[in-house]
Amino acid sequence: MANKFFLHGADYNPEQWIKYKDTVWKEDMLRAKEAGINELNVGIFAWSFLEPEDGVYDFSWLDEVMDMLHENGMKAILATPSGARPPWLAEKYPSVLRMDKERKPHVFGGRHNGCVSSPDFQRKVLEINTRLAQRYANHPALYMWHVSNEYNNDCHCPRCQKAFQEWLRARYGTIDNLNDSWWNTFWSHRFTSFEQVESPTTPSWLGECESPNHNLAWRRFCSDNLIKFFQMECEPLRKYTPHIPITTNLMQTFPGIDYFAQGRVMDVSSWDNYPQWRGDERDVDISYDASFKHDLMRGVGGQKPFLMMESCPGAVNWGGVNTLPPPGTVLYQGLQAIAHGSDSVQYFQFRAGRGGSEQFHGSVLPPDGSADTRAFREVTEVSSALEKLQPACGSVTRNQIALVYDWPNRWALDYAWMAHRGNQKYEDTVRAHHTALVSAGYGVDMIDQLCDLTPYKAVIAPMVYLLRDGFAERLTRFAENGGLVYLTYLSGYVNEESLRHVTTPPLEALTGVRTDEIDAYDQGHENSFLWQSKAWPIKEMAQLSTPRGAQVLATYQQQFYQGQPVLTRNTVGSGVCYTLQARVDTDCLTAVLGDLLRQHGVTPLMENLPHGVIATARYGEEGEEFLFLLNSNREDVTVALNGAYTWLGSGEEAQGEIILKAFTVNGFVKK
Ligand code: GAL
Repeated sequence: MANKFFLHGADYNPEQWIKYKDTVWKEDMLRAKEAGINELNVGIFAWSFLEPEDGVYDFSWLDEVMDMLHENGMKAILATPSGARPPWLAEKYPSVLRMDKERKPHVFGGRHNGCVSSPDFQRKVLEINTRLAQRYANHPALYMWHVSNEYNNDCHCPRCQKAFQEWLRARYGTIDNLNDSWWNTFWSHRFTSFEQVESPTTPSWLGECESPNHNLAWRRFCSDNLIKFFQMECEPLRKYTPHIPITTNLMQTFPGIDYFAQGRVMDVSSWDNYPQWRGDERDVDISYDASFKHDLMRGVGGQKPFLMMESCPGAVNWGGVNTLPPPGTVLYQGLQAIAHGSDSVQYFQFRAGRGGSEQFHGSVLPPDGSADTRAFREVTEVSSALEKLQPACGSVTRNQIALVYDWPNRWALDYAWMAHRGNQKYEDTVRAHHTALVSAGYGVDMIDQLCDLTPYKAVIAPMVYLLRDGFAERLTRFAENGGLVYLTYLSGYVNEESLRHVTTPPLEALTGVRTDEIDAYDQGHENSFLWQSKAWPIKEMAQLSTPRGAQVLATYQQQFYQGQPVLTRNTVGSGVCYTLQARVDTDCLTAVLGDLLRQHGVTPLMENLPHGVIATARYGEEGEEFLFLLNSNREDVTVALNGAYTWLGSGEEAQGEIILKAFTVNGFVKK
């Protein structure tokens, strides 16, 4: 979806203010216009107001809200209300409530805790979604669907058990195949029917929770079951409003759902971004982290422009210590999203409620509607900045490097009985590689093991422990055709089902290295290796391996495996595969990856970036090249531009050395 304009909006809950609508709603519209808000997300938790009793619907207030938005020149991202249920629904249809791992049923309350296998829940959601879609199909304010809110799992009720068993039957066909795929002869656990299989439990004495294969299957099922529910929610929307794109707001690396799988069945990726800015030098790491998450969320949407659906224009209230972000943070945070390919800056929420657990959460307006606040002024400032960056709206990224983050692989690592059991740090490791690449000046696309590799020059795949079917072959072909592949320790240990290999591990030919053993370090262990005459520390994990054709570039300096390979290079067709056998810090990754990529002709967006500076690029349909430079330091820095640019907005020329002001996002277009 190529927006014509950047969305600047917020979650808006006018139903909370229905008793004050003559004053508050009117004031909301005035304030929204004053702040340059052009879109509001409505209806997210409004089920009680849309259907106050079973089968009794009242859309009159939403009609008014939609009309009001349109009359005030604003768009609506309209939600389906399944994110929270009204009490009558739980009372009348108790199956809509979840059951936890210990098989205890939940009582009504909270949100995001429905059972998606409940036929009553499914039917009621379908009914209300159908009515919403029919009613607003041709409403001029309707811009996009916001399906539910931050979907999450799991439920262990009898219906979910049944659904799990059906899912297993579809995946494995026969119970024997399931037993073999899970290695169930171990501990005499061979099932004789699918009906015997239950979801994993906690604590362990209650039932099964130790089998990595069983656990992995459960995670896959929960993810698929939620995505199936999401697709069910979309059916009436697609039927009655085929012209309206669909999104659901995601939660970055949330472990419960394979977001790449979900991204493949929605039109636009969107996510909720809540960095905990500190107002000091820690913001550099926070900025790198947000950059990683933006790239990941763009990736799950197939690298198209995405939306930052929520962010806080002040301090959140759910942290232990809710520090105020200093002035300028709202602008930085908003434009950081744009720099990474977002076509929106949106907030939670427009007007804070008077009560409820979010009464003190940062918002564009306080409950009294005052515009004389720092948040309001900063949001207004974002509007002017977005206007200046407008030419970049709808433009796309085009990066040479793909960094792999894969949910099934993450799950398999979470359940792997080895090395740092329960704490393998997959996410941290991928993030460290992302930070290293970005620090070396590269733009990064995040992909999973199913994505197309051909648009890239380099594929960086840390800790690909679980190989999904066909990935090893596709990586090998990518290298043979001239690509650079980079792998690390803990790669290729298990197959799609998390079973170890019965023949030569599939990555051995690609890496040119046989993996022998993995050493997990506690505090007392350390190691190091030399790279470009510098000794780099090794932490936490060291893999022992034997070259099988690869050239050894660096070796361990300590431990009984001193002299064995740390970094290897294997020529594969016209490409190359590097393998790093040990965990190192981000600075080391920046140095090593920077060298390897440069040697292979992979060009950074910018050379010699100062610490804390991030470069990103977006490309327009008419061949425009937009460059964004983010300085997350709390002081000005100087960078050297390679080529002639114009500052977006002021139109001033930018060439050679330029100053990036402290904590700013700077946009340029290439001349
Ligand atoms: C999000 C959620 C919003 C709101 C916000 C508060 O995760 O989608 O509804 O609760 O957090 O930070």
